[in-house]
Amino acid sequence: MQTLSVALGERSYPIHVGAGLLDRADLIAPFLVQRKVAVVTNPTVAALYLDRVTGVLAREGVEVVRIVVPEGEEHKDWRTLNGIFDALLEQRCARDTTLIALGGGVIGDLAGFAAATYQRGVPFVQIPTTLLAQVDSSVGGKTAINHPLGKNMIGAFHQPRVVVADMRTLETLSERELRSGLAEVIKHGLIRDAAFFGWIEAHLDRLLARDPEALEHAVVRSIAIKAEIVGQDEREGGLRALLNFGHTFGHAIETGLGYGAWLHGEAVAAGMVMAVDLSRQLGYLSEADSTRIRSLFERAGLPTAVRGISPARLQQLMRLDKKTKGGRVHFVLLERLGMALLRADVPTGAIDHTLSRLAA
Ligand code: NAD
Ligand code: GLY
Repeated sequence: MQTLSVALGERSYPIHVGAGLLDRADLIAPFLVQRKVAVVTNPTVAALYLDRVTGVLAREGVEVVRIVVPEGEEHKDWRTLNGIFDALLEQRCARDTTLIALGGGVIGDLAGFAAATYQRGVPFVQIPTTLLAQVDSSVGGKTAINHPLGKNMIGAFHQPRVVVADMRTLETLSERELRSGLAEVIKHGLIRDAAFFGWIEAHLDRLLARDPEALEHAVVRSIAIKAEIVGQDEREGGLRALLNFGHTFGHAIETGLGYGAWLHGEAVAAGMVMAVDLSRQLGYLSEADSTRIRSLFERAGLPTAVRGISPARLQQLMRLDKKTKGGRVHFVLLERLGMALLRADVPTGAIDHTLSRLAA
């Protein structure tokens, strides 16, 4: 097992990564205020792992309330959140009950937002079971639900007490979900670590074949990059915005196509190719680097353009981006491979040109 940490003073927390960690209730028990937890999950993950997690916690003397919510991004909404509150109240969960998210990023974001708001905030633990959730969404404390008009528009910052990432859960993940998670792994290399990007290029076949050693390296390096950024800028005053590379386009794609039509990582992959194109147009990235990045996404089986949504509609949705200030959309660009920057003054003509090439 490897243990990383997000350094946030007295709210710092460990992130454990390793094989078989679902059986390690001892990693969670020290963080429980009272020996009662509510595990939030969905039917797919419940069928695979809920009995196991409930069993190991019960053996530690922990009372477990099970909350199974509907599956899918289209249910990351107010109605499902309210269903979680109903269950917590019906089961008389108090302020000292810990909420545990067992699942992918949808479950993590929903359970995290419930934990941030139930009785003005209860303790929270993340057990991420998708590659995307292990490398990104379980770390950093962003929680949210979607609004019909915009992705992740209602939410809160609420850090977990501990994150437990069992690498073996990735064995049951579908091929498409694995590729979607790789998009966020590639993002971490692109924005912060050119050598890691090169490592992903060299080991992509091993990652796609789920070689445990390669996957663990990708997870640990991604978490280290994200934890370092979050430790410096928890509330996204500046630096943390770089983690949104590709997301201005990506979130607009997800909202425009309808939640769940494309996986989050797929939309972000196409969004990153758009941001790379913008970076090339503005003279930061060379043509060669732009082609090199695009081919990695192609090799990973991820989309590099979008069909079914017009450039005008994408621009309209992008104006809702959370990085918009004073009516101007701020774009995360690549200054070079491994180094990102935030720019507020991207010329409209350049955005039009990128979208006319990569969206229709
Ligand atoms: P997801 O949560 O929908 O999970 C993907 C699918 O995999 C689901 O159908 C789920 O039931 C299934 N699944 C989960 N674990 C499994 C396993 N071990 N074996 C088999 N099937 C399994 O999607 P995701 O890609 O994990 O997360 C995407 C969400 O995360 C989006 O809503 C996105 O906005 C959010 N997100 C949040 C942050 C953040 O910082 N909070 C960061 C990135 C993404
Ligand atoms: N996924 C972007 C962030 O956590 O800031």
